Amino acid sequence: MVSGKGGTGKTTVAAALALALAREGRRTLLVEVEGRQGIAQLFGAEALPYEERKIAVAPGGGGEVYALAIDAERALLDYLQMFYKLGSAGRALKKLGAIDFATTIAPGLRDVLLTGKACEAVRRKDKAGKFVYDHVIMDAPPTGRITRFLNVNDEVAGLARFGPIHNQAQAVMKVLKSPETAVHLVTLLEEMPVQETADGIEELRAAGLPIGRVIVNMVRPHHLDEDALRAASGERRADVAKALSRAGLGGARRGGLAERLVDPLVAQAAEHASRVELERGQRTVLEGLDTATYELPLLGAGMDLAGLYELATELRKQADDE
Ligand SMILES: Nc1ncnc2c1ncn2[C@@H]1O[C@H](COP(=O)(O)OP(=O)(O)OP(=O)(O)O)[C@@H](O)[C@H]1O
Ligand SMILES: [Mg+2]
Repeated sequence: MVSGKGGTGKTTVAAALALALAREGRRTLLVEVEGRQGIAQLFGAEALPYEERKIAVAPGGGGEVYALAIDAERALLDYLQMFYKLGSAGRALKKLGAIDFATTIAPGLRDVLLTGKACEAVRRKDKAGKFVYDHVIMDAPPTGRITRFLNVNDEVAGLARFGPIHNQAQAVMKVLKSPETAVHLVTLLEEMPVQETADGIEELRAAGLPIGRVIVNMVRPHHLDEDALRAASGERRADVAKALSRAGLGGARRGGLAERLVDPLVAQAAEHASRVELERGQRTVLEGLDTATYELPLLGAGMDLAGLYELATELRKQADDE
C-alpha cells in the first residue's frame, strides 16, 4: 500500500515500487482505486480497462508489471456473481442503476469492494498452485483516509456476523493485517506532509495495520558545505561583491555588474540556507518516528518513463543496502 499526503508522489512511488519489485522474472500488479487513470497517464498508456494488463517490463532480468484500475461497480458485479451466482441478474441490477446507487450511496461499501478485489489478486493462484503475482502494489488513498479505508472490512465483519460476506470481510482483514502487507507513506521534507506522516503512522499503529517504510520523495541536492551555509545566512554583501569582482565580473563599485549581482545572489543563498535548515528540522521529526526511510531524488527533467526506472533502481539499491 502506498499512501501519503496528496501530491507528494504516491502514484509515482507506487509505480516505481512495482518496477523495483518485478525483477528477476517476478510479476507484480500495480492497482489504483481512485478512478483517475493515474497509472495509465504515468506509463503513457491508454486508459486501463477493468482488466489486468501488462504495462511495463522491469529493468534488468525480465520481470513484468501488470496494471489494473479497480472499479467499485465492476467489483460489486464480480461479488454478486461469485457469492450469489447473480450473473445476469447482476447486469439487470446495473441497468436499474442499483449498482451505481449502492457504490455511491455507501462509501464504506466502495472501500470493501476495492480492498476485496486487491486481496483477491494477492491470493490468486494459477492451476499449478503458484501465486499469480509475487507482489501487489496499491496506489492507495491519501493518509487522511488510509486507516479507515483499510479497516472497513473489520466493521463489515462485525455487522454481518456470519455468511459469505462475513467470511469475505474477515479474509480481507487477515491479508491486510498480516506481515505480508505493508503500508508505505510518501512524504516531502516539508512541515505538512511530515505532520501527516506522523499522524498516519500513529493511526495505523493504533489500528494494528502493518507499517512499511517512510519514503521521502523529491529530495533536493544541497550545494553548500557547513561553512558556506553559515555564510549564506549571514550578512556578507561586501565579501560577495569582492569575490565577484575577483572573478572578473567587473568592479565592485556602485552600479557595476558585480554590485548588481550581489543582492539576488545573497538572497538566493539565504533562501537555500533556510530551506536546508527547514529540511533538517523535518528530518529530525522523521527520525523520531522510528520507521525506516528511503529517499528519492527530485528529478529535474520532470517525470517520464526513464525517470520512473531511475526511481525504481534507487528503491532497489536502498532496499538491498538495508
Ligand atoms: N521524484 C520526483 N521527481 C520529480 N517529480 C516528481 C517526483 N515524484 C513525483 N513527481 C511529480 O510530482 C507530481 C505529483 O506526483 P504524483 O501524481 O505521483 O503524486 P500523488 O501523491 O499521486 O498525487 P495525488 O494526491 O494527486 O494522487 C507529478 O507531476 C509527478 O510527476
Ligand atoms: Mg496519485
